Amino acid sequence: MTAKELRQKYLDFFKSKEHTIIPSASLIPENDSTTLFTSSGMQPLVSYLLGEKHPGGKRLVDIQKSFRSEDIEEVGDSRHDTFFEMIGNWSLGDYFKEEQLNWIYSFLIDELKIDPNRLYATVFCGDDSIGIGRDTESVEILKKIFAKYDIEAKDIDSAEKNGMQGGRIFYYDAKKNWWSRSGLPADMPIGEPGGPDSEIFYDLGADLHKHENSVFKDQPCHLNCDCGRFIEIGNNVFMEFRKTADGFEKLQQKNVDFGGGLERIAMALQGTDNVFETDLFLHIINKIEFLTGKKYRENKVAFEIIADHIKAATFIMGDDKGIAPSNTDQGYIVRRLIRRAIRYGNHLGIKDDTWYLAKDESWTKEVAKIIIHDYKDEYPELDRNANFIIENLKEEEAKFRKTLERGLREFEKIKGNINGKTAFDLYQSYGFPIEMTEEIVKSKNMKVDVDGFKTELEKHQELSRTASAGKFKGGLADAGEETVKLHTAAHLLLTALRKVLGDHVTQKGSNITAERLRFDFAQPEKMTAEQIAEVEKLVNEAIEKKLPVKFEEMSLDEARKYGAMGVFESKYGERVKVYIIGEGDDIFSKEICGGPHVENTGILGKFRIVKEESSSAGVRRIKAVLE
Ligand code: SER
Repeated sequence: MTAKELRQKYLDFFKSKEHTIIPSASLIPENDSTTLFTSSGMQPLVSYLLGEKHPGGKRLVDIQKSFRSEDIEEVGDSRHDTFFEMIGNWSLGDYFKEEQLNWIYSFLIDELKIDPNRLYATVFCGDDSIGIGRDTESVEILKKIFAKYDIEAKDIDSAEKNGMQGGRIFYYDAKKNWWSRSGLPADMPIGEPGGPDSEIFYDLGADLHKHENSVFKDQPCHLNCDCGRFIEIGNNVFMEFRKTADGFEKLQQKNVDFGGGLERIAMALQGTDNVFETDLFLHIINKIEFLTGKKYRENKVAFEIIADHIKAATFIMGDDKGIAPSNTDQGYIVRRLIRRAIRYGNHLGIKDDTWYLAKDESWTKEVAKIIIHDYKDEYPELDRNANFIIENLKEEEAKFRKTLERGLREFEKIKGNINGKTAFDLYQSYGFPIEMTEEIVKSKNMKVDVDGFKTELEKHQELSRTASAGKFKGGLADAGEETVKLHTAAHLLLTALRKVLGDHVTQKGSNITAERLRFDFAQPEKMTAEQIAEVEKLVNEAIEKKLPVKFEEMSLDEARKYGAMGVFESKYGERVKVYIIGEGDDIFSKEICGGPHVENTGILGKFRIVKEESSSAGVRRIKAVLE
């Protein structure tokens, strides 16, 4: 079964269970300053899990583009990728454990024809310290499900110590069977939703555990031991709790958040033990073989890093937000991905391969072209932004080639270990990400002072956010009143910008904290002081008029006819919410948006633009506050 068929089967299956198909959200989170990337299907849906009404109803199904920068170091083990597609189905206060577990196993076994003997389950063992008990309800449901396939599903404790013991269902603690954006119950900020989960594992069969080089060979094998035999392919999160000041309380609704790894399920279906051998990577790997003249099987780590990183960079740059390689935020991650791929390409000898490409021509773009081609049906934004992707790859590769040559010469001059200041200079002057410096010094048996580097980095304030890229920190500060106000201000700002600068202005991204609003928009030139003052004036007038803020649900087509702003790309024709600021003849803004917003602009206070600067080619950035 191809990955294309798998995607379709999943959407169709849950559609037949009355789910609305919704499109993937952007990889760059909207109005969420706590994380740089969308790393799971639930992130764009948090407000709905907390009770906000979704225009698609209470049952949703989607395939979400996801990126986990924290997995960069894991790539190379045949089953990790930083970019992946997460298949997801959602109950927003509707069905719960019984339906979810029955449906998902039926999908895997009856629809996809996965051998049930190869499937195993984990459940939450309970935790007295947070007053949440063992998930016996899921165990009972799972036993009945396996019984349908004549499998007696024994439930087993402490597999970490005693191994599989002939079990089928395994209890683990919160480290393994609790899910929230910020991880363990203790690490969750107040207000954050989370809950116990039940993971689904697939048995790859090979007895990797006992392999002579295995670090696991003296420990018992079990589902979570990471030896490579069992691979997690999906996770049913029963999201019914919310963190409070002194523990947990029930959310107003019981939710299901199911997330499954498309690449890993494709792997199981295509009879391989390696995601890079599925049809989701086949053409990419072939292209790298062609460019290098080397074989994947003999150079797995380098191939996987190149394939994964260029794919991730292509998807991030291909998002409509127009993220280009840079030294800050998402752009820094893109730079790091591209440069790391190039370095591994160099190892494999690509740069000497001049028979195919003209000298010094970019090869990463050749790989990106394959990715755009293979994915454009599902993700048409890649096609729309193909030029942007290719041009940025060309530029970044040329830049990096120059700095690498100069930087490596500098490296040769350094004797002994590298202190923080030198590591920072290499970073700033030669574009050497610290991870790359670490890799090079390791190969030379030298050391680098990473903490010292970080101190230097923080001194340069603008750069300081990069170190924690992708880590969720803030929690629900986002639903806080200040961020909601700034979110409404962002709608006013977009209208004001279009009035002052023209209709070419479209939103390219936004990032809101409790303190400020950052807003990126398409605009070729710097704004004049007069234009900035005019925009401020228009926004403040809309605030002083105390305009009501309401939303209406409609189809995308109706939204377009109604003149709402927003992204109209959708292959599913789903329903959307349009937020309307003002009423009657005095409508100031109409914009497609999930919310939440304030009820009346009157409470926003005074709007002030503190900075207007360039963000990337053709994109300006405004930072603004409410006072
Ligand atoms: N939120 C869970 C995960 O990301 C399931 O979707 O694993």
